Order: sequence, then structure tokens, then C-alpha cells
Amino acid sequence: MDAPIIQLENVSYAYPDGPMAVKNLSVSIGKGERVAVLGRNGAGKSTFFLLCNGILEPGEGTLFCGGQPVTRKKKDLLELRRRVGIVFQEAENQILAVTVEGEVSFGPMNLGLPLQEVEKRTGEALSSMGLHDYAQRSPQFLSGGEKKRVTIADILAMEPELILLDEPTSSLDPENVTRLEETLDQLSEAGIALVVSTHDVDFAARFAARGLVFSHGRLIADDSLAHIFSDSALLEQASLRKPWLWQAAEAARPGESAYPLTMDQYRQWLKQSVVSR
Ligand SMILES: Nc1ncnc2c1ncn2[C@@H]1O[C@H](COP(=O)(O)OP(=O)(O)OP(=O)(O)O)[C@@H](O)[C@H]1O
Ligand SMILES: [Mg+2]
Repeated sequence: MDAPIIQLENVSYAYPDGPMAVKNLSVSIGKGERVAVLGRNGAGKSTFFLLCNGILEPGEGTLFCGGQPVTRKKKDLLELRRRVGIVFQEAENQILAVTVEGEVSFGPMNLGLPLQEVEKRTGEALSSMGLHDYAQRSPQFLSGGEKKRVTIADILAMEPELILLDEPTSSLDPENVTRLEETLDQLSEAGIALVVSTHDVDFAARFAARGLVFSHGRLIADDSLAHIFSDSALLEQASLRKPWLWQAAEAARPGESAYPLTMDQYRQWLKQSVVSR
């Protein structure tokens, strides 16, 4: 079996003069997985992402990429960042260039790819995010949601094996949330692993099968979303609510161990309720 793309073994991290933000974390992400990262503000989600991408160095424990320990050597970090891309929670932290096109082509150029390939990837990433008409605009003067789409296009153009998206839907309007979900589906079909942190449990339910739940810097669950949303004590501990679809189904037929998470599952579930009557 292939080694996981990334694996954290007993990793802890404290910010300088700050709290212990991630405590004794062991988790791995394999090829093509779709994972939702859940937990209240300050739970450690963004810190986990920054550790996965080598931006923060574990205080204790080890990060592995493709089965190899990642040291602070430039070679290791470059290899890690080629394989693992991150879309930051704050778009401002990511934007560098003076035009949207320049911004999105920056990553593939840095990889030293031929110009034709750079142009192809840039064009595809811009259209995935509905940004073709923005190519010559200055990213600095875009709205929050538009900037977010530029930062997602940035990472798409790098074609990594794993993309970490830190609250990607938070500043998007409904049309662009749908566009993003379609893009995530396409990436997933292409075999790219996706790890997405979100406070939107309805989006998490549509998007992922596996969930990681953080609370006070600890990973308190690494399980299927069906298990997570049927564990009331866990939901209370992490301040999470159940998805609306789940709640609606539970109100209609209380007492079942799990309920639908996606529209497809809901249709299936409705058919079964008709049969069982
Ligand atoms: N640069 C920093 N310096 C000091 N402490 C920090 C820094 N960034 C985060 N923290 C602290 O580390 C802890 C974890 O923060 P983190 O940003 O990982 O949480 P989060 O789960 O991403 O929260 P949110 O949902 O608000 O994005 C919090 O207690 C936070 O106050
Ligand atoms: Mg965060």
C-alpha cells in the first residue's frame, strides 16, 4: 500500500508566548481522501493545517510526507509544498502579484514548468474559479470573496496531491459555494486528496465522508461523519450541530442510529420509509 501523503506522529505545537495550540496529534491523510476538519474557534484547525504544510515546525513529534520524515532542510520543505498545497483562511496572506493572471501563474512558473504548461494550468485554474474576466485585474482591489477565489485558483494551478483548504466557503456567495463544491468534486475525481476546515456542517456533510474533530488543541474524533453526527456527547463537547438534512429526517422518524447526510442519501432514505410503511 502507498504511504500516506502526510502523516503526523505525536505532534504538539505551542505558539511563542502562546497557548499549546495542537497537542499530541497523530493522524494521516491518504491519496484521494475527502476530509472535513471541524471544531469551534481556536480549536487548532488552522494550526494543524500550517503544520501539515511545513509553515510551522512541530515542537514535538514528527511530520512525514510520503513516508519520509520532513526535516527543516529546504529540499524537504520544497518537496512537501509541491505535494501539499494550502489555501489560507485569510486571502491577504497569500496574494503577491499585481494581476490575477500573474498571481495564478506564479506557482507553476516557480516550479520551472515550460511556458505552455504554465499558461494551460493558469487558464484552467482561472476558469474553474470563474475568474477569466478578472485576469488583468489587480488582486489587491478585489472583494473578499473574489480574493478567496484567486487564492484557490493559485493552488489549483500547482496541481498538488493534497489540498488543504482553511474555511474556503466563509466569504463566498451561494453561487460561488456551488462552484467551489463542483471544483472540489472534479479534483476529487482526479484523485487529489482534499482536507477542508469549515464551520458549515451542511457543507461538511455534502463534501466529506471522514471527519476530524478538534477541541482545545486535541483531536477528539477521527471517524465517519455518520458516526460523528450520531454522537451527541461529542457534538456537545465540540459545539457542533447536526446538519439540517439529518435533523429533518430525525424529526420525521426519531430513534434511528444514523440519518442522511447528502441529498442522494436522503432520497434513498425517503424511498425506504415509503417501503417500510
Ligand atoms: N500567531 C499566533 N500566536 C499566538 N497564538 C496563536 C496564533 N495563532 C493562533 N493562536 C492560538 O492558537 C490556538 C489555535 O488557533 P487556531 O488558529 O489553530 O484555531 P482555529 O481552530 O483555526 O480557529 P478558527 O475557527 O477561529 O479559525 C488558539 O488558542 C489561538 O488563540
Ligand atoms: Mg482557523
